[in-house]
Amino acid sequence: MTATKSVTPIVPRDLDVDFRAVPRHWLASNATVTAIANGVNLLFPHGERFFVRSVKHFLGEIDDPALRAAIKGFFGQEGRHAHAHDEFNQILRTQGVEIDRFLERYKRISSWLEAHLSPKLNLAITAAAEHFTAILAEGAFSQNVLDKAAPEMRALLAWHAAEEIEHKAVAFDVLQKVDPSYALRIAGLVLGTAILGGFWAWGALMLLDQEQLTPVRAWRQLGRMPKRDPIVRRVFVRGIRQYLARGFHPSQNATERIAADWMAARGMVMPGARSEAA
Ligand SMILES: [Fe+2]
Ligand SMILES: [Fe+2]
Repeated sequence: MTATKSVTPIVPRDLDVDFRAVPRHWLASNATVTAIANGVNLLFPHGERFFVRSVKHFLGEIDDPALRAAIKGFFGQEGRHAHAHDEFNQILRTQGVEIDRFLERYKRISSWLEAHLSPKLNLAITAAAEHFTAILAEGAFSQNVLDKAAPEMRALLAWHAAEEIEHKAVAFDVLQKVDPSYALRIAGLVLGTAILGGFWAWGALMLLDQEQLTPVRAWRQLGRMPKRDPIVRRVFVRGIRQYLARGFHPSQNATERIAADWMAARGMVMPGARSEAA
């Protein structure tokens, strides 16, 4: 059995943001980057509820009180993220964006996969996906992406990103307790990359199509943006390379201060913490 390395307290917080004034092109006033961001936003509610289920399945096998407390905080945070992103997705509908055909297919295919894969593999997929979301969260702060977002979305994504960093090791630590096999971890990485990358690309292309943007025109729009580290390289290439290391642990990415420092520099504060994780 490996020791639990999660040390950061994991505290669910309630976000109270009204998304009704969010403009259609809320990120950098640009249709392409907004579609790319919305592509992953669409995946969050169903995806995060899957993360919770995959960890909850093994709760009875976890007796380490520190890890059990971290899991409880993780459940509270992911449940709130799913709810907040459901609220934002509703705004997309009121803006006339057709998302339900895609969401129905995404839920049907991913639920089929969940039902046909073993609970351990589902947990391994969650651990890998959580590694990607933690890197994505780090980039939201380090790349100053959120400075270009509408204020309501900045609040949503800063809150979500900060909590993803807080609980980045929970699913990984549960997987290590349940089955520390390297092969299982890498199988989760392969499937998690394919599922997250595939649905994200599909969702973004579906949204771009509704903006009358072909992939070629979208690519040209991206080329006119200020130089930055592209998501494929920053999240997927780096994330996979790190995760392949046999001795990898999410705590090796020293991101504990990044959210607090980013918020302090902008005079922002995190929403109030709940006294108990629900
Ligand atoms: Fe989340
Ligand atoms: Fe998460």
